[in-house]
Amino acid sequence: MARLTIEQLRLRKARGEKLVLLTAYDYPFAHLLDEGAIDGILVGDSLAMVALGRDETSSVTMEEMLHHVKAVRRGVLRTWLIGDMPAAALDVAVEQTLEQAKRFCEAGCEAVKVEWRAGMDKTTAAIVKAGIAVMGHVGLTPQTAKQEGGFGLRGKDSEAAIRINEQAESVEQAGCCAIVVECVPDEVAKILSNRLTIPTIGIGSGPNCDGQILVTQDLLGLYERIKPRFAKRYAQMASITRKAIADYATEVRGGLFPAPEHTQPMPSEELAKLQQKLAQKS
Ligand code: KIV
Repeated sequence: MARLTIEQLRLRKARGEKLVLLTAYDYPFAHLLDEGAIDGILVGDSLAMVALGRDETSSVTMEEMLHHVKAVRRGVLRTWLIGDMPAAALDVAVEQTLEQAKRFCEAGCEAVKVEWRAGMDKTTAAIVKAGIAVMGHVGLTPQTAKQEGGFGLRGKDSEAAIRINEQAESVEQAGCCAIVVECVPDEVAKILSNRLTIPTIGIGSGPNCDGQILVTQDLLGLYERIKPRFAKRYAQMASITRKAIADYATEVRGGLFPAPEHTQPMPSEELAKLQQKLAQKS
């Protein structure tokens, strides 16, 4: 599948063709996702939780994000690559945010994602003006979730839904090429998808978005600390991994691993010479 372009994003929405995105944080998964013919790979700031073991995303640094973007880039040949701007890069002056967006591009991203909050319209317009594609993010925005009453569904009542709609409109007006809509009721996601010309990428927002994204570790059952209600586990990789580790330990302890096929012998004449030399030394 050819790499998705910004023009194709709107075309895919117009044709009603769903966009499929997942997250990646390292080379092996990036490589597997790239082979999987999905449309986009996000190096999300969920990195902080599912790969770095923290209990929130807002403390992840630019250096940590870029370290992982570079690893993912090495595994991605075909897929559209998006980097998630961490809070540290957004809660600063517009010029500084723009500099950080450029660093994501230098590290190999084709777009950056911005969790929406006050001031993001101006910041995004400046990034877009510099020729960098931006994906907005509304609804539940994990970087500011604590200040906004915690995690959970957003836009439950009409007032809250109107505010999300206004944010989504400002995302589109600022020049974003797509928008992540996280944890809003299905009806609200449907309204946004109908009103916006840019594609909505849902997570926890029902089937009426123009595309879907999941954290890959959730899809694979690899991150067990939190299981979001909206995330479907397509595999139980944690159980498979546990079994592999237990089998390895049993085989090492039982002398079954390494077996001859995992062992590299020395040529017998070299071994004889080695033994002779050692004998002379002692
Ligand atoms: O950080 C992340 O992985 C995200 C997606 C879940 C949308 O923001």
